[in-house]
Formats: sequence, structure tokens, C-alpha cells
Amino acid sequence: MRVLSGIQPSGRLHLGNYFGAIRQFIELQRQGAECFYFLANLHSLTTMRDAEKLRELSLHLAAGYLALGVDPTKSVFFLQSDVPQVNELGWFLNTVCPVSLMQKAHAYKDKLAKGFSPNMALFDYPVLMAADILIYDSDLVPVGQDQKQHVEMARDLAMKFNLAWNGEVLKLPDAHIVESVAIVPGLDGQKMSKSYNNTIEIFQTEKQTKKNVGQIVTDSTPLEEPKNPEKCNVFALLRLFLDEDELAEVAASYRAGGYGYGHAKARLTDCINARFADARKKYDELIASPDTVRDILREGGRKARDIAEKTMQRVRAASGIITTY
Ligand code: ADP
Ligand code: TRP
Repeated sequence: MRVLSGIQPSGRLHLGNYFGAIRQFIELQRQGAECFYFLANLHSLTTMRDAEKLRELSLHLAAGYLALGVDPTKSVFFLQSDVPQVNELGWFLNTVCPVSLMQKAHAYKDKLAKGFSPNMALFDYPVLMAADILIYDSDLVPVGQDQKQHVEMARDLAMKFNLAWNGEVLKLPDAHIVESVAIVPGLDGQKMSKSYNNTIEIFQTEKQTKKNVGQIVTDSTPLEEPKNPEKCNVFALLRLFLDEDELAEVAASYRAGGYGYGHAKARLTDCINARFADARKKYDELIASPDTVRDILREGGRKARDIAEKTMQRVRAASGIITTY
């Protein structure tokens, strides 16, 4: 079973990234799957225009992945930009991709709605993502709900390519989505996302976490009155951390009254700080040693390129492209 996923280094890691994606990355690695995890830095170019920021966020994301448990002795961990074959496969996939398929992409339509003036790369984003997936013969792609359609498009493009060139050249992947955390809510109850400015970051101090949790939007029911936990953004996030009994206890306190949102926020702050204490320590060490991180990525890139080149040899051969190098 081969697993592959990537995250763009275009913002700081938040609870949505962890519960929606990275936790599944680690779990699949623990189960002994053959895992490929990478930084989708070429995808970030569709929206970012600050080179220094992209470099900084790339180190942040790489250290974050490693601190949260991606183990480079078990998984291939690398930079998208270290595998130029991915762009090459993207071109082949473009040749079998109907323009109408890309026009259906929710992520693209959302960006347009938010006022981004679209460049061709933003439009073509799902094709590059399909190349990321298909070049490693991936079986399973762990992602949050928002990426499901892109994985389906990758499957579609593999099928179209195979049909066009009369062969089983590319393997069809499946998305792996854990329904209970498919959409982690943010400070305002919408999907948590760096582009909505409503995130709770993982790698911040305990004090910053307290302040960040304090920004969660709640209604103005007075402390002494009973409250409905199902309508509360803090409770929705507590669900990610507490077991069933603990959650039932908190829900009962909400309903009983005399339990304020401040209490719930304090509980959530403690949960976050406890869950990520070890990862934060490891993260600080890695950030202080960027060369170690770069060496790990370099080694992963070498392994990823070897596999990608083999797939490209199949792709070129199937479609009659001759190379002389
Ligand atoms: P953002 O929405 O902040 O830009 P990304 O698109 O970089 O996040 O997401 C990286 C990974 O984290 C993807 O697999 C995505 O599905 C997952 N993810 C991001 N936000 C959430 C969320 N709020 N709930 C569940 N999964 C999420
Ligand atoms: N589009 C993904 C995101 O924004 C990142 C990504 C790029 C990806 N290539 C991928 C995810 C391949 C899974 C598989 O989160």
C-alpha cells in the first residue's frame, strides 16, 4: 500500500492541518504503509509573491512535519521542487485534461469568488496535484474534505491517460478522508483555514495559545445560564481532544449552567498545550538546525526522484516520446 500526501508551505500549521491531514499521515506510517510526504512548494507559487516568506514557511512546514511525527527513516520526506519529473508529467496530463474539468474545481471557484485574479497555474493546479499523486503510483491520498475533489480529478486524469495510450500506465488513487475530522472548524465556526484568518496555530507558545483560544467566537449567554454545547465553537474543538466520557462530562456542565465559555476555553487551551508540548520542543530544535532539515529533505528527494523517473520512462514510452539523454 503506497500512501502520498502534500501540504503547501503557504501558511503556518494549524489544528485543521493536524487533525484533517497530518494525524492520518502519522497513523498510516505507524501501520507500516509505504509513505511519501512532501512540501507542495510549487503549488504555493500560484498565490505567493514573497520569496523570503516562502523560504521561511518551507522550513517551518518541514520542521513541523518532522516534529509531529513524520519519520524520515520510515517515510520518504521531500520537496516537490526536488522532483522536476512532476512538472513533466503535468504536461502529459494537461494533454488529456478537458478545460471543462478544471472549470469545475471548487478550490479554483472559491479563489475567484475571493477576488484572486487567476493565473494559468491556479487554473491548472489540480493537474500538477494529479502529477504529484500519479508519479509515485500512489494507492491512497490522506487529505481533508476540501481536497477530495482534487484527488477524484487525479483518478479521472489517470483513467483518461490510460485510455488515450491504450495501456495501464498510471495507477488509479483513492482519497483517504476521516469523516469525523474532515472539516475542522476555526475561530468563527467556518472551516479553519489560513485564508480565512481563523486558525489556531500548533507551533506557538502556551501563552499565545491561550490568547488564540480566547479569540474563539461564542454567544453572550451569561455564565450562570445553561448552554447548548452543540452550538458552541469551543465545544466543537474540544471534541478533537477529549474521549467520550470526558466530552459527556463537559456537555453536562454546559447544560447545567454555572459553566462559562471561559471555563471551556481554559480546558481547550490545556488540551492543546498538553497535546503539542513534545512536538513544540522538537520543532524548536529543528528550527535551530536548518541544515539537518535540509539534509533529510535532500535524501528524501533522491529516493522520490528515482521512482518518479521510472514512472516517466513508462509514460514517455507509452506516448511515443523519444529522449536521447
Ligand atoms: P488551508 O485551508 O489552511 O490553506 P491547506 O489547504 O494547506 O490548508 O491544507 C493542507 C491539508 O490540511 C489538506 O489535506 C487539507 O485538506 C487539510 N486541512 C486544512 N484545513 C482543514 C480543516 N479545517 N479541516 C480538515 N482538514 C483541513
Ligand atoms: N493541494 C493540496 C493542499 O492545498 C496540496 C497538495 C499538492 C497535495 N499536491 C498534493 C495533497 C498531492 C495531496 C496529494 O492542501
